[in-house]
Amino acid sequence: MNSERKIIIAIDGYSSSGKSTMARRLASEIGYRYIDSGAMYRAVTLWAMRHGMVSRDGVPDVDAIVKALPQISIDFLVDGQSQLTVLNGEVVEPEIRTLEVSNCVSPVAAIPQVRHALVKMQQDMGKTKGIVMDGRDIGTVVFPDAEMKVFCDASAERRAERRYKELTEKGAGVTYEEVLDNVRTRDRIDETRSEGPLRCA
Ligand code: DC
Repeated sequence: MNSERKIIIAIDGYSSSGKSTMARRLASEIGYRYIDSGAMYRAVTLWAMRHGMVSRDGVPDVDAIVKALPQISIDFLVDGQSQLTVLNGEVVEPEIRTLEVSNCVSPVAAIPQVRHALVKMQQDMGKTKGIVMDGRDIGTVVFPDAEMKVFCDASAERRAERRYKELTEKGAGVTYEEVLDNVRTRDRIDETRSEGPLRCA
């Protein structure tokens, strides 16, 4: 496809609403690059957790994380149909999807400086167009001029069922109630943060 005619497709929505599955399939179908922006927030969170910058109850040390941002590099490795998230040269794909990371990611993603750094990286990835990016603020903040914008939603219970199935299939010892609680907490934090809150473009 002629690169001049390529577009940016922004897919936003609530956690576990199926947007990543849809975005990945769409990108593969039309030969676009798929970028999971949530994986980038998860990677920063994992790095902060490993460096003792998130307390046991999920409260991030904002100053320490902001200071450390220049040391964190995030990339994606294309592996057949899927993309593997690379944090400072290490593939962290299974680790960033755990419930432990899910429980800490929204407060880290609410830090304005973290958002500024990742939004800039995401905008750079879109310079050549031909991408499908999914997240929370892609159509509102990252690419407000995206040619196509999609917003996904479903009830918290339905989304928790989906995430619970995914996690238990991977062998994680979690309960449905824990997953539902995580989904509801993340919805609340994602919708109410001052910077790039989750909303339909
Ligand atoms: O899509 P996900 O569940 O993997 O996203 C993980 C977290 O990252 C989610 O709780 C909110 C945050 N996020 C965000 O704030 N902005 C984005 N563009 C993508 C994700």
